[in-house]
Amino acid sequence: MPKLIGDKKVNVAVFISGTGSNFRNLIIHSLKRKSGFNIALVISNKSKAKGLIYAREFKIRKRVFCYSNIKITEKKILNELKKNKINLICLAGFMKILSKNFIKNFSGKILNIHPSLLPKYKGLNTHQRAITNNELYSGCTVHFVNPKLDSGKIILQKKVKIYKNDTEHTLSKKILRQEHLLYPKALKKVLSSL
Ligand code: GRF
Repeated sequence: MPKLIGDKKVNVAVFISGTGSNFRNLIIHSLKRKSGFNIALVISNKSKAKGLIYAREFKIRKRVFCYSNIKITEKKILNELKKNKINLICLAGFMKILSKNFIKNFSGKILNIHPSLLPKYKGLNTHQRAITNNELYSGCTVHFVNPKLDSGKIILQKKVKIYKNDTEHTLSKKILRQEHLLYPKALKKVLSSL
């Protein structure tokens, strides 16, 4: 890992597969003078990921990897990260699971945002499962990535109340709004401890 020099901004790569609203939100935060980070690269496993439009809009280097072979693809991604002097990775709706070996290369330097109050509701369909189980609250979590899915150390969490008339759609919208507040805060917390 490259050492951070003086008060230079930390280079962050964001990994996406879909809409990219968290990606866009992180870019906007990075542009603040005192943000402490710079989005230097976006990586997607899908060439048609909607969020890639923000790469063009904000002139961020973009790379798409097709993932036909995990080992080869991850090697290429690691090369790309090295080439761009990336210090930290933010997963934001990235639908591929990173291997143990990949994670080892960026140990303690990979963050993920998950739409539930971990350790509850790891994996997919979190909102529907929380509603079906009559939970009073759901929310979102930013955590470090370790080799076990959605199980790394929690950095920050935000609770969101579930109302009787909430649907998967309304709940996901409410939680996404909180995600946009939580991810930059969590990133700031991690940066201050580097
Ligand atoms: C978010 O709900 C995030 O928690 C989950 O995937 C979704 C990504 O949304 N991991 P977006 O692509 O950032 O809009």
